[in-house]
Amino acid sequence: MGDRFAGKTVFVAGASSGINLAIAHGFGSEGAKVVVLSRSAEKIEAAAQGLRDAGVDAFGIACDVRDYPGLEAAYAQTAERYGKIDVLISGAAGNFLAPAIKMSANAFKTVIDIDLLGTFNVFRASFDHLNKPGASLIAITAGQAVHPMSFQVHACAAKAGVNMVTKCLALEWGPAGVRVNAISPGPIADTEGMARLADPVREKQIKGRLALRDYGQKTDIADAAMYLSSDAAKYVTGTILNVDGGSDLGDASANALAQ
Ligand code: COA
Ligand code: NAP
Repeated sequence: MGDRFAGKTVFVAGASSGINLAIAHGFGSEGAKVVVLSRSAEKIEAAAQGLRDAGVDAFGIACDVRDYPGLEAAYAQTAERYGKIDVLISGAAGNFLAPAIKMSANAFKTVIDIDLLGTFNVFRASFDHLNKPGASLIAITAGQAVHPMSFQVHACAAKAGVNMVTKCLALEWGPAGVRVNAISPGPIADTEGMARLADPVREKQIKGRLALRDYGQKTDIADAAMYLSSDAAKYVTGTILNVDGGSDLGDASANALAQ
């Protein structure tokens, strides 16, 4: 256990599994008190117990990020237990592959509501509970925000919006000493997102297109979140940090021919 975030309170929305749970463990392993939130009471309690088993002072809250009053109650509960929030991660998301022609309006809306409106809700409802100045807010976005992808019209539209929520709030809340950034993960191994979107049969081909030739680890995203929330990033706001093995750069498979 380290102590880089000792005395800090970190709140992670969408943290019953995957990348966001790894972020919670990262901050917890550096001494932070951690609150994790997701829809499923059973899953979030298991996640919180896993944190406590790892020696982290943590608790879980069952709440849907589409439920604004529920988020207000979650922040009030956090204030009562741990005081003001120093670091807030908004990472709840839903995704599935679906051609637009087979996607109902409600399917499109569902992903917009979880990813985009959910991020606005998580950030907007937190404002009175942030430890200002100095608070660090981080949205978890994706490459879909800037690269159009087939069967991903809902996620592309939602994550493009998440990038703009990040930048607009960075502008509005910077004068209060609140920094707002986003992390754009590339393909991260052993995650629900990859299970839903990537064909394991094509793994070698997908890795061969990446400049760094491999999938990332969940801890790579946790490390980036801790960097953005540290003093080393105290002059960084409104940025979308790609932690993606070069995915954003495009297809790097041709490089292999020249080497
Ligand atoms: N293809 C097409 N449409 C789909 C779909 C799929 N694979 N999965 C769900 N939908 C549609 C549903 O049919 C419904 O539309 P309809 O009312 O017109 O029939 C709409 O999406 C909402 O589905 P519902 O199951 O009620 O939504 P939910 O809020 O309970 O769950 C999801 C949200 C659909 C995103 C669900 O997959 C989820 O909970 N995901 C979280 C985990 C995840 O996606 N992790 C990866 C993060 S990158
Ligand atoms: P994951 O394990 O499915 O994580 C999603 C989390 O969000 C779960 O804990 C889920 O818990 C929660 N959640 C979903 N809908 C919610 C809602 N309405 N309200 C509250 N919580 C909700 O997926 P992941 O692959 O690790 O992805 C995490 C984040 O990284 C997402 O923002 C995703 O877009 C981003 N990302 C992932 C990759 C990748 O390679 N995996 C790449 C780029 C970006 P419950 O089911 O308990 O609610």
